[in-house]
Amino acid sequence: MDLNQRARALGGQITAWRRHLHTHPELSFKEYETTAFLAAELAKMGIAVTTFQDYTGCIGIINPQHPGPTVALRADIDALPITEDTGAAFASQNPGVMHACGHDCHTAMLLGAAQLLQEQAQDLPGRVLLLFQAAEEGFCGSRYYLEKGYLEGVSAILGMHVCPDAPSGKLSIEEGNRMAGRDNWRITVEGVSAHGSTPHLGRDAIVAASSCILNLQTLASRVNDPLNPLALTVSTVKAGSQFNIITDTALLEGTLRTYDPALRATVKREMETVIAHSAAALGCTARLEFIEADAGDAVINDHPGLVALAQSSAAKLFGPDILCHVEPSMASEDFSCLMQAIPGLFVFLGIHDEGCGAVWPLHSEHFAVNESILPTGSALYAQFAVDYLNQQEGR
Ligand code: NI
Repeated sequence: MDLNQRARALGGQITAWRRHLHTHPELSFKEYETTAFLAAELAKMGIAVTTFQDYTGCIGIINPQHPGPTVALRADIDALPITEDTGAAFASQNPGVMHACGHDCHTAMLLGAAQLLQEQAQDLPGRVLLLFQAAEEGFCGSRYYLEKGYLEGVSAILGMHVCPDAPSGKLSIEEGNRMAGRDNWRITVEGVSAHGSTPHLGRDAIVAASSCILNLQTLASRVNDPLNPLALTVSTVKAGSQFNIITDTALLEGTLRTYDPALRATVKREMETVIAHSAAALGCTARLEFIEADAGDAVINDHPGLVALAQSSAAKLFGPDILCHVEPSMASEDFSCLMQAIPGLFVFLGIHDEGCGAVWPLHSEHFAVNESILPTGSALYAQFAVDYLNQQEGR
């Protein structure tokens, strides 16, 4: 079967799914209606679905009894705390919540792939696991399915994300760095409070925090090799109560983004040193805490065989001109959690299209896509699964 042709024929249905999801977005870990909707749609297709008592998201399996290998396809299903301002007829009806990262597209594309694959289930030499994953924005929502053993036996996994940096409908299937690792952190600076008129009697936590902020900048400019990607951002500063009090506490929060594990370790260590000495020079202390539950590794396509296979799947469907280059991003993706356990591949699907106003970055309240890309994503998901299983069988 020509999966591109079949996906185009299914385009109206895939778009309807996407619009339904877009109208009814739900935040991370709260995707109850979304999960129920997905489970019902998969059941309608005759696909075995697993939902969870204590967690959102669901897993569909095509050919659950097949003894052959298992390939997984993953879509993230959660939305963001953003008030939509697109004017679309199918705009969000949940106030303050919006699918502004394209996860509605990913989910609809995977539903489309589910339909395409189920139609030819009897010809597949293995199983396809469809992972509709909760809480990507909450970071590491994917850990649950791994830790509970729901992904056991999966020997390869494909994830996809829409990409405003690439032309609409083009695919970036590339080896190497794709999305950065993330470490969110918090710094507590402590001094001694005093009246604002007597600075010599206090130890000003605000001045010490300011020194920490400025000296942290030198890690990117002086410690790091300029050719090695690094972003270290202080994003919040909280301190003080009123105009005539020298405060004894200041809180800083921020994020560290890296690809290189050695650099990641070095910067984490150097941050401790820099803030301890910056604060000590002003008679204060500073404590650094990394938020482990929120940390994630980089998304790096380090399985050349999977990259080559997906490239050939894409070329088979759309011709070789479908492929494009996208620079690595310093944003993060919890697909990395899955990639730590399962050989994985992460693909970008371009959405930039001035003709239909799809010019906004991810997480914008104006975020838009040209829905003609949806069958492209469905066809690639499905073709990759078919080609992977056939390749495994041929071994
Ligand atoms: Ni996203």
